[in-house]
Amino acid sequence: MAKRVLVVGSGAREHALARVLSSPECEILCAPGNAGTGLSFRNVPVAVDDIPGIVAAAEREGVSLVVVGPELPLTLGLVDALAEKGIPAFGPSKAAAQLEGSKSFMKRFLKRHSIPTADFAIFDDVDAAEAYVRAAARPLVVKADGLAAGKGVTVATTPEQALLAVRQMMRDNAFGDAGKTVVIEELLPGEEASFHVICDGERAVPLPAAQDHKRVGDGDTGPNTGGMGAYAPAPVVTPEVHGRVMRTIVEPTLAGLKAEGTPFRGVLFVGLMIEAGVPRVLEFNVRFGDPETGVLTSLCSFTGGGWLGLLNGAAHGQFPPTQLECEGAALSVVMAAEGYPAKVRNGDVITGLEKTPENEHVHVLHAGTTRREDGAIVTAGGRVLNVVGRGATLEEAASRAYAQVDAISWPGEHHRRDIGSRALEKT
Ligand code: AMP
Ligand code: GLY
Repeated sequence: MAKRVLVVGSGAREHALARVLSSPECEILCAPGNAGTGLSFRNVPVAVDDIPGIVAAAEREGVSLVVVGPELPLTLGLVDALAEKGIPAFGPSKAAAQLEGSKSFMKRFLKRHSIPTADFAIFDDVDAAEAYVRAAARPLVVKADGLAAGKGVTVATTPEQALLAVRQMMRDNAFGDAGKTVVIEELLPGEEASFHVICDGERAVPLPAAQDHKRVGDGDTGPNTGGMGAYAPAPVVTPEVHGRVMRTIVEPTLAGLKAEGTPFRGVLFVGLMIEAGVPRVLEFNVRFGDPETGVLTSLCSFTGGGWLGLLNGAAHGQFPPTQLECEGAALSVVMAAEGYPAKVRNGDVITGLEKTPENEHVHVLHAGTTRREDGAIVTAGGRVLNVVGRGATLEEAASRAYAQVDAISWPGEHHRRDIGSRALEKT
């Protein structure tokens, strides 16, 4: 079993993973980590896109497992580079990471395997894309092909919005090479959910479905963000929908990848749109969601070797005998910096953290934080903290999380007050 694990990334997702992987028998290193992971674990100063630097750190530290948080190092081939040195890693190969790295690859894959998704067309010629939009006469979604830091998608209710998005991506290079090719697809109605499955190349262990809140403001208003809070389980994913997701999406995806010579090891995060009980794929991510990870790690544990045994087994292509244990609900609230999601101010001193409890009811994950020379913890990013509450019910989880949110502050801090409202309305 792994004795020293390197977690790559610096967000709340990586803090959450480090927390559940750590034990008296297993030391955790984070590259590059944040103030929170630096306090509880050991940070290694290397950037997530520095592939040779991460491989060198893993060799130097003699780690027996690398757990990769963000998509960027996966699409840059970190797992392949580690494999060349004989270092096992939790995460897909560069080839399998194309499911997230290229939306045109992903859509063609879905079509090839008859997996339900929105109808689409792919363009690398701007005139052809514009002509398609003009002829469509219905709401469309315009997506940059490559990674665009979560900003490459425009949901266009009018043709003018779609044309503007096409021109910005293809003519004005708003996302550089990522926008040279665009996917234009039909707008799907319904409710979204985040469905995570841990995969060992063949088999899949599904986690409870989660939902996040993408808009910055209460009542789902204002601009899109990376996610302002999350909760699980999501009532929209009934046992019946869960079965359908596994049967019509997850199983054919894993079988298709294996048949094409790129078996998937790691976590497949299926972004679902569910309408009248029918799930369709909006997107694939080849890594854990953030903020979903905080709630999933709080909610789920595994018999046998725990999270470490599961992720280590996936990295080695063979799950250990394990069973998911999951009771009650978990909910997280993101506390964001002044200005987020536009230009953020950094360097504000965070107060109230010293009173943070760390127990099965509530804990605080760090994201954009850093430690000043005088020891003060200051903001260093848009999403700063992620407060996770757990309870027998979603209401209880929410009230525990919000009680803690109210004890922490800094100038310009903002958060949503209504995380979980969609699910609470249903109960
Ligand atoms: P993506 O990165 O492809 O998941 O897109 C980001 C967000 O845009 C999704 O979480 C949805 O809220 C929205 N979106 C993407 N594709 C569609 C679609 N075909 N229909 C409706 N909404 C969509
Ligand atoms: N919360 C959505 C994501 O991680 O992409």
